[in-house]
Order: sequence, then C-alpha cells, then structure tokens
Amino acid sequence: MGATIIGIGSYLPERVLTNADLEKMVDTSDEWIVTRTGIKERRICADNEASSDLGVRAARRAIEDAKISQTDIDLIIVCTITGDMIFPATACVVQEKLGIDDIPCFDLVAACSGFIYGLEVAHGLISAGIYKTILVIASECMSRLTDYTDRTTCVLLGDGAVAAVVARCQDGAGIIDSVLGAAGKYGLLLYVPAGGSKMPASPETVKNRLHFMKMEGAALFRIAVTAMASAVQAICKRNNLTPDDISLLIPHQANIRIIQSVARMLNFPMEKVFVNIEKYGNMSAASVGVALDEAVKSGRVRNGDIVCMVSFGAGLTWAANLIRWETNG
Ligand code: ACO
Repeated sequence: MGATIIGIGSYLPERVLTNADLEKMVDTSDEWIVTRTGIKERRICADNEASSDLGVRAARRAIEDAKISQTDIDLIIVCTITGDMIFPATACVVQEKLGIDDIPCFDLVAACSGFIYGLEVAHGLISAGIYKTILVIASECMSRLTDYTDRTTCVLLGDGAVAAVVARCQDGAGIIDSVLGAAGKYGLLLYVPAGGSKMPASPETVKNRLHFMKMEGAALFRIAVTAMASAVQAICKRNNLTPDDISLLIPHQANIRIIQSVARMLNFPMEKVFVNIEKYGNMSAASVGVALDEAVKSGRVRNGDIVCMVSFGAGLTWAANLIRWETNG
C-alpha cells in the first residue's frame, strides 16, 4: 500500500513586510536584500495569530481540496519550530480548533525539513496500515523568533502555513520515497539559546536577546548547498532515476543563491525549479509545502509528473522526497 497527498492548501498572513519597511528598521537596503537573498517581501502574522491559527486555515483548505469530511482524519501531525506554547503540542490546539475529537496529535520538530519529515512519517504509518487519513500541517510564525534589530537574520524570515491530507493509494503512486538526514554536530549554527530546559527564561535571557534565533549564515549556506544536492542525488540513485526524470524541483526557499547553487551542482535547469522566495522569504517548515501548493494550483505540476522536494534546516536536518503527482478529480 502507498500513500499520497489527496488535498493541499496553504495560508499566508495578510500583513506584508517589504524590503522598504526593513530599510526603516535596520541598516540594510532593498538592493542588498534582493541581490544577496532574492527576497522582496515576506508575510507577518497578526498580533493575535499563532502557528495554530495559520495551520487551521491551511488545514480547512486542504480538507476542502481533498473532498473529505474532517471526521475522516485519524491523526494530526504539526511540523513546527514555532509552536503556540512550549506545551501542549500545537497539533492538539489545531485539533480543538478544527473541532475533531479523539484522534492522536503530535508535533514534529525538524525546522525547515519539517514538512518532508512529516510527509514521510505519514507515508510510513499509512503504508503499514496503522492510519488511513493523516493531516500533515507545517505552520511557522518565524517573526516571533526574529530579532528585528539584527539585520543578518531579520531580512530572511516570514510566516505561513501549509496542510496536506495524506491517504492510501496504490503502491508506486504518490510518495515514492524519502531521504531524511540530520547532523546534530552543526546544531549551534542555527538555534534559539533560551526558553528551553537548558536556559529557562529569566530577566537576563530577555535582556541579552537570547529568545531570538542566532545564525551562522555563511557556514549554513555552504552546508545547505551540499546537503540538498546530495539528498537529491541519493534519492534519484535509490530509485533508478536521473535528475532528468524530475519534472519539477521544489527546494527550500532560504536564499535564491542557495537554490541556484544546488541547481548548478545537479546540472538541473532553473526552468524546472520552483521559486517563490521573492514573495515570502524563508518560512521554515512551511516553505516547500506552500511552494508545492502554488505549483499545483498554477498548473506547474501535471498528472503523472514526478516532483522532488528538498530542504535543509536547523538541527541540522535535511530531507528530500519524490512524489508522483496525481490530481484528485
Ligand atoms: N543588509 C546589509 N548588509 C548586510 C545584511 C543586510 N541585511 N546582512 C549582512 N550584511 C553585511 C554583513 O555584515 C557583511 O558586512 P561586512 O563585510 O562589513 O562584515 C556583508 O553584508 C556580507 O555578509 P555575509 O554574511 O558574508 O553575506 P552573505 O553573502 O553570506 O549573505 C546570508 C548572508 C544571506 C545570511 C547568507 O549567508 C545565507 O543566506 N545563509 C544561509 C541562511 C539560511 O539559509 N538559514 C537557514 C535558515 S532558517 C531555518 O532553518 C529556520
């Protein structure tokens, strides 16, 4: 038995933060941001919105797209590093807001690789016959972890959510395969120092801005390119495919130069690479999923196409998958 995405939907908050807005907040310029990252604007959640709210809106669209009843869902996985609270799981908050009772819910923390990790967990559980219909949500309010006095990070990040309904299909269709990886030794290249059990919140941690994301951008850039290109090569090799067999490559939208470098390393034409970074920046786990949703809805993905999603993020983690796309009626 296989597993496939039978419905997908996304939600982007209304508020737009442009490069011109950022020019007024930190010492930066539209020219620097566009040239060095490819980002022109990003979405920012409202003061009263949290990751669960974005996720619920995306979920409703995915459920409608799947043409199922929400009572058909038997497990919810929320992939996020910006959960509503430290606990309970944001997946439980989503369950309550959707009005679904008595199904298991958990969060999955794999940063920008979260959506591909989540799809693979759903794939495994459905293929094993344990669950039938799983709601996989990737929802991030990255603006909540962003230090808007730090120009090296605040220009990169945005908020958004995607949801996919994953269900049974015949073997060989849908999610064909996934490659997941991690290297904890690089954990401190990208992290939030305080607020967990290692360094609980205190006046000192707040004063020293330790609840915001810290990042070694240049080192991450190098590792990201190699990790993503290697993951695509590995998944192609394992499935006796070449990059030529991929109809559309959907890479994590962290930096246009990272995306171009991955394509170059794979000798893959940019015309077959999906890019929407200019509109949203890096939405962590939500990025590749929102891109997949836009690619499907805009007709860039057709019935029978092989789509490859690839991502990397904090952990460090990385992931790639292959999906043989089938439209849902
Ligand atoms: N505006 C203007 N100048 C800036 C800005 C800015 N926003 N940010 C940095 N600079 C300056 C630096 O201070 C530096 O100045 P200096 O030479 O006087 O010291 C200069 O620009 C060059 O800085 P670099 O860090 O070398 O710039 P680089 O070309 O590497 O780009 C960037 C930086 C965009 C962060 C890049 O390294 C990158 O994208 N790295 C990967 C980041 C990433 O993908 N993170 C994963 C993310 S998030 C997640 O997983 C949740």
